[in-house]
Amino acid sequence: METTTRPSATDQAMQLEWNYGAHNYHPIPAVLSRGEGIFVWDVEGKRYFDFLSAYSAVSQGHCHPRIINVMIQQAQRLTLTSRAFYNDKTGLCEKFLCEYFGYDKALLMNSGAEGGETALKLTRKWAYKVKGIPQNQAKTVYAAGNFWGRTLAAISSSTDPSSTNDFGPLLPGYIIIPYNDLNALEDTFRSDPNIAGFMVEPIQGEAGVVVPDEGYLRGVRDLCTQYNVLFIADEVQTGIGRTGKRIACDHEGVKPDLLVLGKALSGGTMPVSAVMTSNEVMLTIKPGEHGSTYGGNPLACVVTMEALRVVEDEKLAENATAMGEIFRDRMTALSRKTELVKSVRGKGLLNAIVIAERPDLGGETAWEICLKLKDNGLLTKPTHGDKIRFAPPLVINEDQMHEACDIIEKTILEF
Ligand SMILES: Cc1ncc(COP(=O)(O)O)c(C=O)c1O
Repeated sequence: METTTRPSATDQAMQLEWNYGAHNYHPIPAVLSRGEGIFVWDVEGKRYFDFLSAYSAVSQGHCHPRIINVMIQQAQRLTLTSRAFYNDKTGLCEKFLCEYFGYDKALLMNSGAEGGETALKLTRKWAYKVKGIPQNQAKTVYAAGNFWGRTLAAISSSTDPSSTNDFGPLLPGYIIIPYNDLNALEDTFRSDPNIAGFMVEPIQGEAGVVVPDEGYLRGVRDLCTQYNVLFIADEVQTGIGRTGKRIACDHEGVKPDLLVLGKALSGGTMPVSAVMTSNEVMLTIKPGEHGSTYGGNPLACVVTMEALRVVEDEKLAENATAMGEIFRDRMTALSRKTELVKSVRGKGLLNAIVIAERPDLGGETAWEICLKLKDNGLLTKPTHGDKIRFAPPLVINEDQMHEACDIIEKTILEF
């Protein structure tokens, strides 16, 4: 008699995505159906430490009760008005953001890419209206290795061919210089009077958690001031406590002219991004010149305020500092036990290890390690081939961090 085995719930879910979804991702094969705090569970009931936090969006932990509670309350009252009308939450959230981050004005959008795009549009407007750059001549500078999303404006600054191949023509007016290189930045500013802005991540996340030299951000601030160029900090990944400070620029006590935030702004519940800046920059944009139907919706606004209050009340930035030290100490100790771990880097709870290639694994060593980590109960994903990023929710405690480090150590030593 022929026997047929039913596909597992995991296989079924993966097959559905394969059959009906675009093939624009290559996920780790875990199908998740529940999350709480630092843990997620798959459809078979297996529990995992979440060491990616949706690329740092779930910093407050999965389904944080306070955030979910305000979300439910607001969802039963009013979710979306568009900005054709006022609502009773947008202004409250804008005031909250301005006071929290110390800026005159906030502009709310949805995805991080839209936040970056908004910053770019503001920068170009300011270039023509305030700096006096001739029409259509404004240029913006970016650092090699940057990542700020998948729209055409975002990929136009990308140095990663898999982001740009066959998507041209890209946007004009972009200049790309090396990251962490103040001489290159000054040479560029000096050589071109039409430069309006420099957009930079204080730590490059997608590039593999690349931490610049101390003093870099201070140098960027000084050069931008000297050459009247807007300093745009893309803190979509590094912001909101992730690196151990409210924003990563706080490590060097510098204030960017434009601050782009996203991801953890909503505690992983819905897409919310924001650009914070001065009156001088923000008020260059007039009614009808920029916006988004969902940008600044009342549901997003209450969620954002609660998500930020949680970061303060639970001292998540401070916890990120303490837990990050434990993580890097443990990984540094591990790197002494195996040549597979070439280096450990990061700040707060945005960290990565660089993996040495094992010749028999065909350039897939970091990927294979991540598959084994999954089997052993910890989820993360490689970035740019040989780097594995570790960015758990900031609510992780010391025992949990040691338990997770035990899993990582055991897994890597088995290779
Ligand atoms: C630094 C940075 N900026 C912008 C983005 C884009 O955000 P989103 O995916 O929400 O468009 C990302 C996403 O990973 C990011 O890491």
